[in-house]
Amino acid sequence: MKHLITRSLNLVACFYDPFLKLTMDEEKFRQEIIETANLGGDEKILDIGCGTGTLDLMLAETLDSGHIYAIDLAPKMIKVAKKKAQRKGKEIDYRIGSSSSLPYEDNKFEVIFTILLFHHLNFEEKGKTLREISLVLKEDGKYISAEFGQFPDDFFHGILLKFSRFSGVLHGLYPSELIGQNGLFIEKEINGPILGGDHQVIYRVLKKG
Ligand SMILES: C[S@@+](CC[C@H](N)C(=O)[O-])C[C@H]1O[C@@H](n2cnc3c(N)ncnc32)[C@H](O)[C@@H]1O
Repeated sequence: MKHLITRSLNLVACFYDPFLKLTMDEEKFRQEIIETANLGGDEKILDIGCGTGTLDLMLAETLDSGHIYAIDLAPKMIKVAKKKAQRKGKEIDYRIGSSSSLPYEDNKFEVIFTILLFHHLNFEEKGKTLREISLVLKEDGKYISAEFGQFPDDFFHGILLKFSRFSGVLHGLYPSELIGQNGLFIEKEINGPILGGDHQVIYRVLKKG
């Protein structure tokens, strides 16, 4: 775990859920993402960079059959997620691992999610992650992402950009040239909530092709 932001989140994993509750309408945010996916209820789903697994529990409620797999680089995030699933009696396949090297067979998943993952990745990792997604996604599968749009062009974000040059925070958050290069295209884009006062989140539905 080389990036500062990911290392820090790992350390404070037990405060992640209360922090989100305080700072956003999390239920609405996740519900909108699930609606964007338009699930049939029997899919094999992968959540990459799953954090504490709140989305996975909501997805588990909507599935009749199918199965949820989820992976995160931060061991403490996975620990919290596993505990929550156990408490709710949900069987979710949680693993510790990197989006750059997914431990699943090709063409396995009907649906893949990355929710607020890409601002943790440097440019090379973003490319590798999109490549891995296009490998493990079924031919007619869909990939749903939620990520920040461009950060505002102000003093604060200028400083953040300077200091995060090597940390992987801001390499063009979701570079469009990498999408096509890795066998994917954007089918739909919808504006999501504005977080932290000025950070527009964008929901995307991507497909292979
Ligand atoms: C902002 S959190 C979002 C968590 C979750 N998706 C959510 O909606 O709350 C980003 C997550 O991505 C994870 N992460 C960062 N880099 C990763 C990587 N290369 N592979 C997998 N997970 C990663 C972090 O550990 C963190 O849990």
